[in-house]
Amino acid sequence: MAGNDGENWIYSETVKKHFFDPQNILKVKPEEYNADGVGYVGSPACGDMMKMWIKVDKLTDTIEECKWQTFGCASAIASTSILSVMVTEKGGMDLDRAMDITPQEITERLNGLPDRKIHCSVLGDKALRAAINDYFKNSKQEDRIKKEKAKIICKCVDVTDHEIEDAVLEGKQTWEDVQKKTKCGTGCGACRPRVESLIKQYKLQYFGDK
Ligand code: FES
Repeated sequence: MAGNDGENWIYSETVKKHFFDPQNILKVKPEEYNADGVGYVGSPACGDMMKMWIKVDKLTDTIEECKWQTFGCASAIASTSILSVMVTEKGGMDLDRAMDITPQEITERLNGLPDRKIHCSVLGDKALRAAINDYFKNSKQEDRIKKEKAKIICKCVDVTDHEIEDAVLEGKQTWEDVQKKTKCGTGCGACRPRVESLIKQYKLQYFGDK
């Protein structure tokens, strides 16, 4: 398992393997790769960026190829490398299943990731969802597009569930820390129970029951 010995971050052998020998990186110019769908995400918080290209087997509705490029850190590289393997192995993953892949599944397949690096690992699956949505758009299957619409949680300061999610992913795991980061709850205070329940939900979703 990956862990933390106080000073140094210890990565699992699988993380190291995928960091030093990342799979499925796009090595040609994007315009030379005839992708069916392209997804792009960036995380301003850590300066990471991820771009993903997919080719789809139209007969089986599965992912045939999954290529990517990133300016991300070691965790983003290893996570996306293993994700690209997961969605293309065994004849390719069904598109609906790939749309639902979670950061936790990716982390498990990596044999763990230090908690403070989890937020880097979500770039890959976000980019994958964007690429699948792009394929649905290009292939006129708009009814299959799944967009996660942000919901306003704190009406006084206009803070959304996505902002709270990002804060938790960055390691802010208490009401005080999330409030400091997002400014939620600094008006009437009525949103506190909802924010606290979201913090709990995202902690469980990304970090397990710790
Ligand atoms: S709704 Fe959040 S402070 Fe008022």
